[in-house]
Amino acid sequence: MARPTLVLIHGFPHDHHLWDDQLGPLSEVADVMAIDLPGFGSRADAPAILTMEACADDVKEQMDKRGIQQAVIAGLSMGGYVAMAFAERHAARLSGLILSNTRANADPPEGIEARKATARDAMERGMSVIARGMLPKMLTPATITQHPQLAMRVETMMARQQPVAVAAASLGMAQRPDRLTMLRNVRVPTLIITGSEDKLMPLPTSQALQEAIPGSALVVIPGTAHLPNVEAPALFNGAVIDFLRTLG
Ligand code: MLT
Repeated sequence: MARPTLVLIHGFPHDHHLWDDQLGPLSEVADVMAIDLPGFGSRADAPAILTMEACADDVKEQMDKRGIQQAVIAGLSMGGYVAMAFAERHAARLSGLILSNTRANADPPEGIEARKATARDAMERGMSVIARGMLPKMLTPATITQHPQLAMRVETMMARQQPVAVAAASLGMAQRPDRLTMLRNVRVPTLIITGSEDKLMPLPTSQALQEAIPGSALVVIPGTAHLPNVEAPALFNGAVIDFLRTLG
């Protein structure tokens, strides 16, 4: 592969601006496309329940529309759930996989209840409340204190998402199956990235991905939480660029 196409899939409740610090640097080595999932960002097409499988099919359709036959699919957190669903459903369209700050296991019963509560909160209390509550899970305390503008950028991105899409994705994530066994069948080069301080996806979840996917590599970005691409873009981009170069 001379110059790969890289599709970047945002997490929850984000949009394609999650990847603003990646577009320039990664474009040096790949054709980069940062997409919005249904209902997020500029899209107003959220169904009542947005499953990870529907999102994976949507990614494939976006590739079809642009005439992209194969791509490296990169997803962060919820975007990682979508990337794994893509690997399962559209393996022939996959030339590489990047799973950042994500996990393969399904939600436990209490997690499913929490998803329903988030869906209700989004509709009843609005996104500002949700965004404020989620910010400390996204970034380290040091980043929030020392880089208030960066923290505001992340909070604003979350606060501007449509409650209906956030509720739909929350209910959709609750339905996702365990994909750890399926990952043993992945046959494309795979990079797993996480932040050393990620409390939402602690290190063992990434180690489980690495153990499951044959030949995969794991990079832990020190001093970062759930969004290492935002907190330490140079380290994150470096890891991705090194990986993309190995594909050639
Ligand atoms: C995300 O960042 O996409 C979420 O933390 C995923 C999740 O809630 O499981």
